[in-house]
Amino acid sequence: MIFGGILAGGTGTRMNLADMPKQFLELGNKPMVIHTLEKFLLCPEIDQVYLGVHPNWVLHMEDLTEKYIHVRKECVHIVEGGKDRNATIMNIVEAIERDYGEREDHYIVTHDSVRPFVTSRILKDNIEAVKKYQACDTVIPATDTIVVSEDGESISEIPVRDRMYQGQTPQSFQICLLKELYASLGEEEKAILTDACKMAVVQNHKVSLVKGEPSNLKITTVSDYKIAQAMVGGEEID
Ligand code: CTP
Repeated sequence: MIFGGILAGGTGTRMNLADMPKQFLELGNKPMVIHTLEKFLLCPEIDQVYLGVHPNWVLHMEDLTEKYIHVRKECVHIVEGGKDRNATIMNIVEAIERDYGEREDHYIVTHDSVRPFVTSRILKDNIEAVKKYQACDTVIPATDTIVVSEDGESISEIPVRDRMYQGQTPQSFQICLLKELYASLGEEEKAILTDACKMAVVQNHKVSLVKGEPSNLKITTVSDYKIAQAMVGGEEID
């Protein structure tokens, strides 16, 4: 089975805009997380969709699902998020295995709730790649030159741009592999390895690349939110 894992357990501290996490802000005529959830529900290859939501916002998410989701509502499952992004993913995995058991042919497509413009092509390519390679990441070629600085004051290195990519989501995994990768990390490593694909890379497991889209942007700051509002043709915000 293919499971969607939408990560909505953060509180959006860098946004600093409203009294609610950014994934619940309105984008056009509905909350951002609903745009994201709809993309997953519209993908016929995805059997069930799990949302990992900050414990204080679970009831709110249940209300939103009731209000906005009218198709495949029975496929939506809401669970509590964890203390960091990977912990939210693992809470989702635990819920999937409680509901559907532990199987080698179970895959999860994990995705930031704050990337509402993911396309069905990206979701389908993730599913195809994860079935073949057990782990995949969505990326776009870097357009800006990437500059490395060890001390934040001067340049240490300018890597060749042709080899540089920007990581997006979805990141997809065979669930058994993901559990193995997470279990083999110590507490300190878990705190540092905030990117799920990095858990695979540091343990020398191949992670295949899926082509993303520049439009699959992550809403982190107020200016990202303004761009997203313009993309849906919504009301401008100050
Ligand atoms: N996320 C999560 N569980 C956490 C922390 C983050 O599911 N404990 C999710 C966020 O809800 C978001 C995605 O991971 O959809 C990407 O994280 P980021 O943009 O960093 O979100 P926040 O942690 O909410 O933002 P900030 O870092 O500004 O506080």
